[in-house]
Amino acid sequence: MQAIDTPFSPAAERNKQPILDVLRTVLPPRGRALEIASGTGQHLGWFAAALPHWDWQPSDMVAAALPGIDAVARQPGRPNVRPPLRLDVCDNPWPSQGPAFDLPFDLVYCANMIHIAPWACCVGLMAGCARHLAADGRLVTYGPYFESGVAPAAGNLAFDRSLRERDPQWGVRQLDDVAACAAQAGLGLLERHAMPANNLLLVWGRPAA
Ligand SMILES: C[S@@+](CC[C@H](N)C(=O)[O-])C[C@H]1O[C@@H](n2cnc3c(N)ncnc32)[C@H](O)[C@@H]1O
Repeated sequence: MQAIDTPFSPAAERNKQPILDVLRTVLPPRGRALEIASGTGQHLGWFAAALPHWDWQPSDMVAAALPGIDAVARQPGRPNVRPPLRLDVCDNPWPSQGPAFDLPFDLVYCANMIHIAPWACCVGLMAGCARHLAADGRLVTYGPYFESGVAPAAGNLAFDRSLRERDPQWGVRQLDDVAACAAQAGLGLLERHAMPANNLLLVWGRPAA
């Protein structure tokens, strides 16, 4: 049973296991992960418990989200989760306050931010990954995208409309635009995984890696 004041996302609860199933096929057995836009921390908690040899650094732009993420991190059986950091992807450096990251990350994981944030956040995400990913590191993004040559799902069209009504700077992105943005940062699309509810899990990395 979820405590009343604990931030909770039904969508995150539904998609955390399908995402984990793909992450298990993508990731090496151990490494260092930075989560961007941790939100409620539900993905973090699930992945950290299931992948105990990974060290997890959660973060979010919104300071008010950090106590909820910290509560997830402090649950028993999660010694591999660090205290959450306030991190805005548009900042340079990451994080903009406090000590700099001492080592590169093997994984940067970012779910459901690119479409619920201004386009500058996609640019900032890719630029930050270029600075902080290990040479063979991976960026994993998850969410809905429109793809050229693929008929858009009705649900994604409606979601896109609702996002743009909430904020004209938000919206489901064209995968080609995201890929062009990634290329500017030296990253290429390595894997595309179709996920439930018309979402995609995308794996990005340096093409030669
Ligand atoms: C829809 S929630 C997704 C939360 C979680 N990743 C998930 O999939 O359930 C979007 C998150 O993006 C974060 N966010 C928005 N703009 C951001 C930015 N510029 N830098 C970092 N996080 C940002 C919000 O604070 C929010 O937690």
